[in-house]
Amino acid sequence: MGTPDIRQAVRADLRAVVRSFGQETYFRDRLSKQEAGHGVLLVAWERDVAVGDVYVWLAPAEEPELRTHLPGVALLTHLEVVAGRRNQGIGTMLLWAAEDRLFATGHRQVALGVGLDNLDAQRLYRRRGFVEWPHGQVATTEVVYHADGRRERRPEVCRIMVRQLGPNRFT
Ligand SMILES: CC(C)(COP(=O)(O)OP(=O)(O)OC[C@H]1O[C@@H](n2cnc3c(N)ncnc32)[C@H](O)[C@@H]1OP(=O)(O)O)[C@@H](O)C(=O)NCCC(=O)NCCS
Repeated sequence: MGTPDIRQAVRADLRAVVRSFGQETYFRDRLSKQEAGHGVLLVAWERDVAVGDVYVWLAPAEEPELRTHLPGVALLTHLEVVAGRRNQGIGTMLLWAAEDRLFATGHRQVALGVGLDNLDAQRLYRRRGFVEWPHGQVATTEVVYHADGRRERRPEVCRIMVRQLGPNRFT
């Protein structure tokens, strides 16, 4: 099936991204945030089909604990690979792409929150060198965007995992 191409999304990608992932309100919002300089939406493509995405949150974190202990640290959010293409390395490639970009723009640390039950994702992050921070779990609010445009706010307790960024992917 070949290696997907990972690129920063542009407005014109919205239809294809929504075709793969739904969540139109979410992706519209992230494209607007990107245009305002608050983050970067990276999408993995196989020809014209979006197969994965990650949003790099560059604005101050919404959670006060993150602002206190990791001020200015970029967050990897909403990493997702379409169900039929998981376990083929695309999630790892999206992490690489985001980390490479952050390193190149002067970041030396990156963090993310992962749900306590999401063991698959936790394993992936640990293998990539992320370690849980020492400040405990954090109550976050997951915003779920429904197809009818409703936004639902759901509390979610997360582990915060942090990784130091080096000049190559193995440091
Ligand atoms: C978490 C998620 C993004 C991982 O994406 P992915 O593309 O499946 O990730 P990878 O393929 O890089 O790695 C996953 C597994 O596949 C294995 N793998 C990677 N490349 C592989 C290959 N070429 N062949 C076979 N297996 C491979 C990895 O070793 C890893 O194994 P593990 O189950 O022991 O951890 C995906 O499962 C997902 O979208 N989940 C739902 C959304 C979600 O929970 N996001 C995280 C929010 S914090």
